[in-house]
Amino acid sequence: MKRLLLSVSLLAACWMAALAETGGPDRILPRPAQIEVTSGRIACGQPEVRIGQRAFRKATASLPAFAQKEAYRLTVSRKGISIEANTPAGAFYARQSLAQMARGCDSLQCCTLFDYPRFAYRGVMLDISRHFRDKDFILKQLDAMAEVRLNRLHLHLTDAAGWRIEIKAYPRLTGYAAWRKGATWKQWTASGRQYAEQGEENAYGGYLTQEDAREIVAYAAERNITVIPEIEMPGHSAEVIAAYPELGCLAPDGSPARTQGDLCPGNEQTFQFLENVLLEIMDIFPSEYIHVGGDEAGKRNWPDCPRCQARMAEEGLNSPEELQSYLIARIERFLGAHGRKLLGWDEILEGGLAPNATVMSWRGTEGGIQAATMGHDAVMTPGEWCYLDKYQDAQFKEPEAIGGYLPLEKAYAYDPLDGIPADAAAHILGVQGNLWHEYIPTTEHTEYMLWPRAFAIAEIGWTPAACKDWPSFHERVLRQADYLAGKGYHPFDLRNEFGERKVSLAPVRHLACGKHVSYALPWNEKYPASGAATLTDGIMGSWSYSDGRWQGFLSDVDVTVDLGAVEDIHYVGATFMMQPPPQIFLPKQVEIFVSEDGVHFEKVGEVWNEVPVADRSVLYPLFGTSINARGRYVRYHATRNHAWLFVDEIVVN
Ligand code: ACM
Ligand code: ZN
Repeated sequence: MKRLLLSVSLLAACWMAALAETGGPDRILPRPAQIEVTSGRIACGQPEVRIGQRAFRKATASLPAFAQKEAYRLTVSRKGISIEANTPAGAFYARQSLAQMARGCDSLQCCTLFDYPRFAYRGVMLDISRHFRDKDFILKQLDAMAEVRLNRLHLHLTDAAGWRIEIKAYPRLTGYAAWRKGATWKQWTASGRQYAEQGEENAYGGYLTQEDAREIVAYAAERNITVIPEIEMPGHSAEVIAAYPELGCLAPDGSPARTQGDLCPGNEQTFQFLENVLLEIMDIFPSEYIHVGGDEAGKRNWPDCPRCQARMAEEGLNSPEELQSYLIARIERFLGAHGRKLLGWDEILEGGLAPNATVMSWRGTEGGIQAATMGHDAVMTPGEWCYLDKYQDAQFKEPEAIGGYLPLEKAYAYDPLDGIPADAAAHILGVQGNLWHEYIPTTEHTEYMLWPRAFAIAEIGWTPAACKDWPSFHERVLRQADYLAGKGYHPFDLRNEFGERKVSLAPVRHLACGKHVSYALPWNEKYPASGAATLTDGIMGSWSYSDGRWQGFLSDVDVTVDLGAVEDIHYVGATFMMQPPPQIFLPKQVEIFVSEDGVHFEKVGEVWNEVPVADRSVLYPLFGTSINARGRYVRYHATRNHAWLFVDEIVVN
């Protein structure tokens, strides 16, 4: 019996030894600024002590003020574990790093980390209007954010699809404008965008009570996260006007304008409303920044609205853009008088930027560059790299998304200082990933889109550019995503990533490569790719229509390739892309003609679209056919169905 016990315990010891892992700084996400690995290791689970604040203050004196606040030094040595930091935030991050190093390990590599952020602002935006997300869900995401030192949660609280925050002065915002007919955003838009009374049968929606919001703010603060509320104005406000119709514009005859999405800046009641809402918002959210939206206002009613026109005349405003700027500048003064700063999407630059406004650059990097060059602060969140509502993998295997392709590797490659003049760089506060929710009906799906791509935002925002490293990041992301999955999150499965469209990874050779193409109808100037060279450059498009390889047409594609000499031709074909949102469809039909002299063409092939009209998939079908012909000129004519045609290469063999 004794011998048996002995061998069992020996076995167990061997098994434990096999499992034993030494944790170290190579596990930390985001990667620390400075890592020094020292000799030896210690057992995990030892208490850490906070030491020597004065020495650390001196050590961090040369860092920018924002970095001093979040900096820490973590020393793991045979003598024990010590933490130095200037603030509780720094000490909190030191403990997060220690926890990541030690997770699943029984010993720790001795090391010293001297760590601080590259940018002050490292954010995530959640759109809880298009699909409501409740307090518990938001608290759960704050935990995941704190793990990777993301420190701003921007809540998009209001939009046409639903108002999501209790405002005591305006009970119809949550008694009516927070509810809609149609559980998903797609159902709601397809059925005419109707609102519902709270409690009505099949009323979908919800809102945060002020108590919920205060709890979110406090929970975030314990994790060094500031919650920035966004109240949209003057656009994206159809729900406000549905609840309070007097805030919309008038038609020339003084009746309410027929379609309403923008608040009326000519109406003093609009300002009373916005100021009363903002007073309650400022009372709940201590954030220095209040986001006021400002994006995509249609401004369609303003030129005809008598109140808007009177305002423009009175204030000497010459365009709808200047009228929007008048509203934003007035709100900025109001926020400033209450000790807060205005943050808005980059449209707030149009018509003149309010004097102290901070710009969130989303339509590209230009808004951020312009703002920083003018001496304004900016947060970079360009759609190309920071819009987490795009597909993160090959579309055929992913749930429907808004369109576009943003894999983790591309998100990680972004640098917020790209294109920023050196003397304006200090105005770039940081970076944010935006998760719009039109196509995200469930909470699991929100987590799936957010994690792991928000890890890329975290490392871009924290780690010095020179220390970024994709293979190491990928490794650490797998570990962190596993950790989240173990905690009941639903991250995207990076291990099963399909990746980029394979044919796009290397040039293809064919008979028409490098040959001249003439266009009977021009490509659309928005999507020229490489102009006349595009269709015979041997370079196939990626999954993304905006990659500069796909050429876009709002007409038929009707092109003729000159092979330079008469050749035997056995195949002609081209791939088209179908992405229902954003309105990219397949040709109805393709006809192929061949000619020896460029004058007399003979039809040698025809391909019909076989994808059913009702199909809403993302597809990349080939419209090609085998032929048996001789000629020098090949005409490829694709008949447009509707909306866009996108094609990347005419292959001739
Ligand atoms: C935005 O994506 N409309 C800011
Ligand atoms: Zn008006």
